[in-house]
Amino acid sequence: MAKIIAGVATSHVPAIGAAIDLGKSGEAYWQPLFKGYERSKKWMAETKPDVAILVYNDHASAFSLEIIPTFALGCAAEFPIADEGWGPRKVPVVKGHPELAWHIAQSVILDEFDITIVNKMPVDHGLTVPLSLLCGQPAEWPFPVIPLLVNVIQYPPPTGHRCYALGQALRRAVETFDKDLRVVVFGTGGMSHQLQSERAGLINSKFDNRFLDGMAQDPEALTKIQHFEYVREAGSEGIELVMWLIMRGALDRDAREVYRFYHVPASNTAVGHMILENKH
Ligand SMILES: [Fe+2]
Repeated sequence: MAKIIAGVATSHVPAIGAAIDLGKSGEAYWQPLFKGYERSKKWMAETKPDVAILVYNDHASAFSLEIIPTFALGCAAEFPIADEGWGPRKVPVVKGHPELAWHIAQSVILDEFDITIVNKMPVDHGLTVPLSLLCGQPAEWPFPVIPLLVNVIQYPPPTGHRCYALGQALRRAVETFDKDLRVVVFGTGGMSHQLQSERAGLINSKFDNRFLDGMAQDPEALTKIQHFEYVREAGSEGIELVMWLIMRGALDRDAREVYRFYHVPASNTAVGHMILENKH
């Protein structure tokens, strides 16, 4: 049977991807950030998952305001890299895992989560920056990736509580797939940041660190955070943090924190990162 062995939470700031792609990761501004991911890259290289499910949001690359799925699952064999205005990032094409993805779609839909099935889709920095941070710059990504998209762009996004419950359904789906696969789930986006209006540049380290503590010790408490609290405390884009709760819901209640990193700022965002392992 397939099994979820670990979860990775990480911000997916586009400027991080640009720093990697333009060879700037050794510069004084970026060096402390990339140093914080050295141990994570080692962990990923040693963990060698068979497949990753990567929870992220599309930034108007695959979907415009014409179609806004709340939750969507990438079931294709391959996902091209999106052109976000400067040409596609020069990173490997993302290979999917259609067999597991279709199983997940069937399982979660019959479990009453009406996820949108996507068979053709470019993937943007929301998905590729976390892969770069954890896997470096390989010629091919070391494992197939199933994209799980969440609408956090256009109000109303789903609640954190609903996201957590989807994570639990995701786990039930993976555990009923009849092949021995070791699966890692990524939850991406966040931490506190606001890109527009009077409060642009907002960073709230106190909120972020409380959220990281909650991820480790009391994820159910985090599911009670309301939209207005995310926006007030973590800025308008801080709402991306609901995506971390899908990953967290897919793990054991007592999953073990093996690594944590927090850094301010990267571009105009607080960067948070955590690795959790299932004990069972
Ligand atoms: Fe984002």
